[in-house]
Amino acid sequence: MAKPISMEVWNPSGKYRVVSTKSMPGTRWIRLLTDNDCRLEICTDPKTILSVDDILALIGDRCDGVIGQLTEDWGEVLFSALKRAGGTAFSNMAVGYNNVDVEAANSNGIAVGNTPGVLTETTAELAASLTLSAARRIVEADQFMRAGLYDGWLPHLFVGNLLKGQTVGVIGAGRIGSAYARMMIEGFKMNLIYYDLYQATRLEKFVTAYGEFLKANGEQPVTWKRAATMEDVLREADVVSNSVYNYTQQISLHPVLDKTTYHLINPERLAIMKKEAVLVNASRGPVIDEVALVEHLKANPMFRVGLDVFEDEPYMKPGLADMKNAVVVPHIASASKWTREGMATLAALNVLACHLQSFRGQLISRTLLCC
Ligand SMILES: NC(=O)c1ccc[n+]([C@@H]2O[C@H](COP(=O)([O-])OP(=O)(O)OC[C@H]3O[C@@H](n4cnc5c(N)ncnc54)[C@H](O)[C@@H]3O)[C@@H](O)[C@H]2O)c1
Repeated sequence: MAKPISMEVWNPSGKYRVVSTKSMPGTRWIRLLTDNDCRLEICTDPKTILSVDDILALIGDRCDGVIGQLTEDWGEVLFSALKRAGGTAFSNMAVGYNNVDVEAANSNGIAVGNTPGVLTETTAELAASLTLSAARRIVEADQFMRAGLYDGWLPHLFVGNLLKGQTVGVIGAGRIGSAYARMMIEGFKMNLIYYDLYQATRLEKFVTAYGEFLKANGEQPVTWKRAATMEDVLREADVVSNSVYNYTQQISLHPVLDKTTYHLINPERLAIMKKEAVLVNASRGPVIDEVALVEHLKANPMFRVGLDVFEDEPYMKPGLADMKNAVVVPHIASASKWTREGMATLAALNVLACHLQSFRGQLISRTLLCC
């Protein structure tokens, strides 16, 4: 018999049974649910990633709604079980929902919510941190220092890339991609080239206005360009390289993960990029063909990457951990206290919105489909 899963119960006499597959930061989300007649059961099992069977056990015979995580596989099996248990709502504690089969939820009458917005700036800040870490070789230099290898200043020691005045490439200029672009433009006066299926009008207007402001102050204005193809973004450095500076590329990936963005960065596209480029990924791992990336890193020691996400999370493809030209962090892009508490609160509101009329209006901006 399967081992029972340990749970922490809040407001045991609540009318609606809501399950959270993980403990989440803050207490506001707990108060929201318990103040609104929910019996909240939080899984306290120490296992990091719950299996479908674990979650089936959590749903049990009666469950009104579930708050789940991006590491879980929410498909037909779980949505039909939730329907049988009387459930009507599921919220992912994430903006991305590539782990959720929305059609399966739809066919089982389960509303699905996600948590956009509150993680935009935090995620963009991590992408900017990865850009700086990779461009300036911070992790390599830190390891060198701790290993006691520093025996004096040298002209060639950990020479990296200058960001100021260069061109930043953004692939997927939605909420996070645009916030990242602004950070790099305002912080380092970088020019922008972006590729997205849609025009990023607000971002374009911002760069135009910021460029005019810089010009009025006697500084070099920044510029923007919407690329017709992704390849144009990858090639852009060559377009500007006949300047006095030896331009390098900074490219950050922020699209959704779907079939159009799976292995968006593949061997052919890596080959287009400059040998000294910096590539950052804080979207989803499978956007990059990670095996091809490892080969590219081996062949091009001055090509650097900053990765928050991995193709086979929590694992890295063989060889990646040995690459000095890769900065790797464990999917922490949204990990600021404010953001994680905000995500938990939105997730609770999403579930409540399906049961309480007074919360319905709040679901609209976040839900992917309706109850
Ligand atoms: N690493 C993390 O912890 C973390 C945190 C937050 C979000 N994310 C990821 O970032 C993604 C983006 O989040 P967001 O809030 O900016 O979403 P968003 O919907 O505002 O932006 C996504 C953008 O990708 C664009 N896009 C879609 N298909 C494309 C394609 N084929 N080529 C180029 N662009 C394409 C869309 O048009 C959109 O502008 C999420 O889906 C999620 O997977 C990761």
